[in-house]
Amino acid sequence: IVVVVIAIICGVTAQNKLHSFRKVVMERCEEYLQKNSHVTRNNDCKIIWAAFEQAYIGKDSCDVSPEAYDPLIRSVKQDAVCNSMLFWSKTKQMAHAFTAKRNCLATLEDTLLGFMFDDLTWCSKNKSKETFTTGCPGWSDCQNNPVRSFWLKASINFAATACGNVSVMLNGSLETPFSNSSIFGSVEVKNLDPNKVKGLTVLLVTKDTDVTTCRHPSFQNLQTSLNPNFSYNCREVPYSRVEGCISDPEIPCRSCLKER
Ligand code: APR
Repeated sequence: IVVVVIAIICGVTAQNKLHSFRKVVMERCEEYLQKNSHVTRNNDCKIIWAAFEQAYIGKDSCDVSPEAYDPLIRSVKQDAVCNSMLFWSKTKQMAHAFTAKRNCLATLEDTLLGFMFDDLTWCSKNKSKETFTTGCPGWSDCQNNPVRSFWLKASINFAATACGNVSVMLNGSLETPFSNSSIFGSVEVKNLDPNKVKGLTVLLVTKDTDVTTCRHPSFQNLQTSLNPNFSYNCREVPYSRVEGCISDPEIPCRSCLKER
């Protein structure tokens, strides 16, 4: 009897976890579509959820490839907004605080796909029908884990659909602000389409005490990775100005992002 009761409790707990995870994702999806009525057309949260689940359900949590998310990518219908796409690397919090207040720039996490799964963890198990939110592999524990493969695929797609002039917010407080091995450096830069993208602007956010500038040698690596037909610009933008713009939405976008 004890074993049966424990089994039932475990079963119910697992069901609740699945339901709460699905609930979070579905609520985010509905909220996004409500707030962005131009995206609502053609998107169905239930269809998106089903395409998402098939990528990892029943699979070992170290055996989910980025391609497993192809049906999910196809299920989301959202056009890229040219000239407003913002990549980021080691500036997640600031980039998101900024785009939350300004429509001039938008990150992957401001699109329906990124918004639905930002900061979430999920995995399943071989032959299981369940979704787990704990006990899943960490980012670097194994290459093909469900979360890493998702962000890889979502990043490839975000970059491949980018158009016009794109920007990246980088961290001027780091010794090396651009890294070839980051998702931005290894995935997004390489997937920009020369038929659609005109150029890249680096927004190097720097504090007064920072010594890193646009002349940092790592930006040579960035320019080498870029298609030679792209224009390249780098602007040192004061951290205090970005902060000021985050707290005062009245300040126009172009004054927020201009050169020091
Ligand atoms: N361990 C854990 N999480 C990691 C790791 C890691 N080693 N590397 C990356 N991540 C995850 C985390 O969720 C982290 O917040 O990727 C996020 C971004 O990592 P950064 O090193 O700050 O930046 P980068 O690797 O360049 O990825 C950011 O990818 O998601 C896209 O469009 C987005 O431009 C953005 C870029």
